[in-house]
Amino acid sequence: TSIYMAGLGGVVPKLPTDFASLQRQAEAAMPRDARNYVQGGCGDEWTQDSNAVAFRHWGMVPRMLLDSTTRDLSVELFGRRFPSPLFMAPVGVNGFVTADQHGDLAAAKASAATGVPFCLSTLANDPIEQVAAATGDTPFFFQLYTPKDEELAQSLVARAERAGASALVVTLDTWVTGWRPRDLNTATFPQLRGAVLHNYFSDPVFRSRLARSPEDDPQAAIAAWAQTFGKVLTFEHLSWLKSLSKLPLVLKGICHPDDARRAIDLGADAIYVSNHGGRQANGGIAAIDMLADVVEAAGSTPVLFDSGIRSGTDAIKAVAMGARMVGIGRPYVYGLALDGAEGAAHVLRCILAEADLLMAVNGYPTLDHVRAAGVVRTAA
Ligand code: FNR
Repeated sequence: TSIYMAGLGGVVPKLPTDFASLQRQAEAAMPRDARNYVQGGCGDEWTQDSNAVAFRHWGMVPRMLLDSTTRDLSVELFGRRFPSPLFMAPVGVNGFVTADQHGDLAAAKASAATGVPFCLSTLANDPIEQVAAATGDTPFFFQLYTPKDEELAQSLVARAERAGASALVVTLDTWVTGWRPRDLNTATFPQLRGAVLHNYFSDPVFRSRLARSPEDDPQAAIAAWAQTFGKVLTFEHLSWLKSLSKLPLVLKGICHPDDARRAIDLGADAIYVSNHGGRQANGGIAAIDMLADVVEAAGSTPVLFDSGIRSGTDAIKAVAMGARMVGIGRPYVYGLALDGAEGAAHVLRCILAEADLLMAVNGYPTLDHVRAAGVVRTAA
């Protein structure tokens, strides 16, 4: 409420408080290559657009005469309590969008400032040990793009575990990158604007594979990275993934209830419904329209969600449809682009503030009330 009350009092926030203006302003400020990278979805971006539009096809019904003067937005996941259902979805090469190329440290600082956990991508521009330190008391997750080199996979995960990550998120939908016309019109992305894949390049196993250090020969390091990227994972690999650490295993990109059931039978600790923000496959239905069936199939196993969340209202709708936690992707990246850690924190605070006020006026004192209220399908 402090943002809202300040705004009513004439203290206008430095950055936009709605996604459309935020995106417009960020895109105007970003260099073309970074803009293409963040914006870019697959094909004509129909799925990407549908992800956000589909939230308009679901509506909530307010409840009255309940005391919602105080709200509890907290959730429990893997035995830990989080202050809200929000987390920052894994985004690779965050350093593209920040002036100093340390986009992941900036994201980590936004996480520390807001209590919204950050899921660090394998393709981070800052080493996980530094990111972990910058998140302060706020827990963080590590997202694995599984390399073909299994010893390297082991090393990346071991570092995450040692650094104190509270979950291992394995992305399943990106063993090869999708057809992204905007990227095709830009240079090879890891070399852009000097953003260095420091998390990879600092890895001892990765370094041991190189004839010369990444500092001395960055082109060879990029080539080695590209070669090992993209192990093809099947259900048979789940026991191996489980064996890499004691961390809870979250599988990102599962959208079909049968896949969710089978993965849970084989030991998945959480399912993460996502279509990668429409960046991998075009032509798929909106991610939010796949959530409820997966939640039903998952039973007591927690389900995380991202793709298309643009506001606090969207986040609460996803919770109403059964998501335990909800990932914010592009919105925080636009915040980073406009004002680094401060910008990302501003975006997260606006989403949190809107979610909190919505719960207040709709008579939902807790997320259990949100879930009980559910959503209603409206005309498209
Ligand atoms: C991503 N996403 C992603 N996912 C992942 O598992 N590892 C990664 O490194 C990345 N990198 C990445 C870069 C950029 C620029 C974007 C926009 C997205 C996907 C991300 O985790 C999430 O699924 C989407 O961002 C959700 O879509 P919206 O809500 O951001 O449109």
